[in-house]
Amino acid sequence: MIRTFEDFKKYIRQNHWIRRCIVRADLNLPSNVEDLTRVYAIRDTTLGILGMGLNVTLISHYKRPSSESVNDPKYSLRNVVDSVSSVIGEDVNFVNDVIFDIDPGSITSKVTLLENLRFYDGEAENDRRFAEAIAKFGDVYINDAFSVSHRRHASVCAITEFLPSFAGLSMQREIDGISMITRDVKRPFTAIVGGSKISSKIDVLRNISQTADYLVIAGAMANAFLAAKGIDMKCSITETDQFEAAIKILQESKAEIILPDDVAASPDINAPGNNYDISQIPEGFSGFDIGDKSVAKLIEIIKKSKMLLWNGAVGAFEFANFNKASNEIARLVASRTKANSLISIIGGGETVASIGGFKDSMTFISTAGGAFLEFVAGYKLPGIEALCRTTV
Ligand code: 3PG
Repeated sequence: MIRTFEDFKKYIRQNHWIRRCIVRADLNLPSNVEDLTRVYAIRDTTLGILGMGLNVTLISHYKRPSSESVNDPKYSLRNVVDSVSSVIGEDVNFVNDVIFDIDPGSITSKVTLLENLRFYDGEAENDRRFAEAIAKFGDVYINDAFSVSHRRHASVCAITEFLPSFAGLSMQREIDGISMITRDVKRPFTAIVGGSKISSKIDVLRNISQTADYLVIAGAMANAFLAAKGIDMKCSITETDQFEAAIKILQESKAEIILPDDVAASPDINAPGNNYDISQIPEGFSGFDIGDKSVAKLIEIIKKSKMLLWNGAVGAFEFANFNKASNEIARLVASRTKANSLISIIGGGETVASIGGFKDSMTFISTAGGAFLEFVAGYKLPGIEALCRTTV
């Protein structure tokens, strides 16, 4: 059983001597550091801890530095310090000295942020010695980074061997939010799975095709399904090495699988598209969005659904000529959710970006990418397992 934030508060009340808490955050923000969703995600937990009179040391990774790029400013968590300060409403003391050289006792600020943990090999190796070094910055540990829970890394797993460990509020919200599709499924249950690659979502497709009532496959990944069925997708991006996997899913699915009947296609992504039946895409054209007939069909399915899981963009929404389907679907899902007719669970950074201004109307939006996919695919996430196992 995971120890919750309520358990943490009880633990602190019983152990008055505790002054320092480590919070594993996911401050791996998009490059422009404009989307602060992941910073807002840790705000409640951080403020809750500060409110109990404890100091907080935030730890996180930032992107994927290679051994050559260690200490490259591009990979420094210094890039997010101002954003964290403004969201939390506290000055953040950024410490970029080598973790092994810092005297944890010298840190007295209310909120401290350590440098990118991925500058150390020990992080990805889940090294106990490295975990112990990080653990020295706190008396207690909270994991509020669901989106990294699929990584067996030192700051996520091994650290729980050294400190009493609890889940943060954002971690709990993510687990509860996504678990709705397994623990409390409302039918008809529809899943929309989009994005460009079947290969990155094969386990999710397999799992969801066994549990959903309708599985709508859209985005570029639909092309491989259609091509595997013998349709000439012309210049559309098609994962030709995934035909076998696609056919297997089509054959074994318990859900009714819905593939696009038409697409908005053009010879160039910067040129406006026209609608074509899937079997009549002109030579030299690529499909960049699902077409009007497909959207109309999807709208009927959403209208009769009680629960919806959406992962992956249905079209090239970043281009104004090809964001029509994304907008229409997002508008409908938002309005059905607001009317309490639908429970909508949205995951993956690209999906969240594709629903634009409708974000706030959804039942639950996950901050996670890979972790969301693994959780939905039914895998046990090492970070959550570590929190369940902790005996310190
Ligand atoms: C994410 O962006 O999904 C998390 O921060 C995990 O990042 P990673 O895929 O580089 O481990």
